[in-house]
Amino acid sequence: MHLEHVMGHKNEVNPILACRAFPAYPVILAAVGDGKEGGVRNVMTVVLVHMLSFNPPVLGIGISPTRYSFNLFDTCDDFSINVPSKDLVEEVLYCGQKSGKDVDKFEECGLAFAKGKKISSPIITDCMVNLECKKVNKIEAGDHTWFLGEVVHAEMEENIPKEKALMYWAGEFRVIGDIIRRR
Ligand SMILES: Cc1cc2nc3c(=O)[nH]c(=O)nc-3n(C[C@H](O)[C@H](O)[C@H](O)COP(=O)(O)O)c2cc1C
Repeated sequence: MHLEHVMGHKNEVNPILACRAFPAYPVILAAVGDGKEGGVRNVMTVVLVHMLSFNPPVLGIGISPTRYSFNLFDTCDDFSINVPSKDLVEEVLYCGQKSGKDVDKFEECGLAFAKGKKISSPIITDCMVNLECKKVNKIEAGDHTWFLGEVVHAEMEENIPKEKALMYWAGEFRVIGDIIRRR
């Protein structure tokens, strides 16, 4: 076994800072609210996202109660998880820096959206994958509250370009790297 990268010494680090060593997270756009014309809705960038169950398919997103969107996630029965390609990196950054309190992010970014097929919240049709989630649980984990959603309807591009999937690690947007081994 070659472990050239292990230099034999590790420093103790602050556990909060050590979380930055956790490899890249996928970045998604979470949309919530009323997907119909004129409804109250919002979209925000989220990296705290994980698959929690394959069957039924359950995903969780971690939302800070300090976000303007929090109340919408808390009160709505559903939300959507939309997987952007790297071509949407500017829009993703915008939705992670601007607040729906001040701007209509859908309008400002020109993001195409539609009401979900099985949920009331909007889906972002410009994204490669749209996962419509019905809220099934809520977990207060610390400075983020996790909303768990069962995927009740999903649409994705045929042959989704995996090399375009957008990742985020400690302040840097990335794409996924080379395949080094098959299972
Ligand atoms: C790359 C990136 C990832 C983010 N991930 C999260 C996250 O996982 N959870 C969260 O609560 N905020 C996250 N944020 C911050 C929110 O997206 C940001 O505060 C946003 O402006 C909130 O929108 P709102 O004010 O319309 O609710 C992230 C921001 C960026 C740029």
